[in-house]
Amino acid sequence: PPASSLFTQTDMSSAHAAVEFTGATLGNSGLSAKEVRPLLIPQRMVKSDAEIDLLRKAAVASAAAQKAGMKAIKPGVRERTIAGLELAKMLESGCERPSYAPIVGSGINSTTLHYSSNEATMEKGDVVVIDAACEYSMYASDITRTMPIGGKFTPRQRELYEIVLGAHRAAAAAFIAGKMRLGNVNQRGPEVTDTLDKIAYDYINTHGKDLHGEPLGKYFLHGLGHHVGINVHDPYDPAKPLDKGNVFTIEPGIYIPEEKIGIRIEDTYYVDADGKLVNLITNLPVEPNSVEAGMR
Ligand code: GLY
Ligand code: MN
Ligand code: MN
Repeated sequence: PPASSLFTQTDMSSAHAAVEFTGATLGNSGLSAKEVRPLLIPQRMVKSDAEIDLLRKAAVASAAAQKAGMKAIKPGVRERTIAGLELAKMLESGCERPSYAPIVGSGINSTTLHYSSNEATMEKGDVVVIDAACEYSMYASDITRTMPIGGKFTPRQRELYEIVLGAHRAAAAAFIAGKMRLGNVNQRGPEVTDTLDKIAYDYINTHGKDLHGEPLGKYFLHGLGHHVGINVHDPYDPAKPLDKGNVFTIEPGIYIPEEKIGIRIEDTYYVDADGKLVNLITNLPVEPNSVEAGMR
């Protein structure tokens, strides 16, 4: 019997052209487009052991690249030089390509989300946000570290760094498989009690102040995280609680242009067969003292 359904993303106009062409080729005028995402997304959200192995390899190579970058940060060095060095390390470690354009944002650029022109020269006294990771056998990783360009955080930079790290850890500690969701910036009201984003937001909003004595929550400009897999931003159902086999990022950030300080700390995690949250990013400094030591 002639096929009657073609599974595709029905909101894409190119999909309709493909359905029409396929129908005409098969001589089947009744062929219709059906939405593939409700079938595919639940499958992509749960990674097999073999997929976790590749995601771990991507994580190990990405951490090695971040470490190489960390060591090369000095005043007077171009952001792009660090990006190039990390790209070389990724490829040397067996990755095919970066999982996104590397971000090396120093000074005011550390406060610009998605900055990737990497064209400035790093200056002593500023911080640099490095968001860089790679794909291993097509599976992505996602890591961000923030470092002081002179090798030592100022007291204010360290204070803000500790707040972002505290928020990161509070979110990880609040994880319960089958209960917590990731959440997003539009779900931060008092009624929200089941998202990791809200945990991190509340932490940031109740620690420290800006230069005007205001809470810092408003400087956490993006959601806490996203699923990771074949794509660095893997598709997922935001309504579903996080559960076994899921792989996602935790990446709180504070971006204060007025102080020329942007800080983000991002690791990629998975939920193991026991429902425990496991950090795939090991062997990469995150404590402020360890970051300073890692730069030497
Ligand atoms: N590197 C992209 C992201 O953190 O979402
Ligand atoms: Mn991310
Ligand atoms: Mn990232």
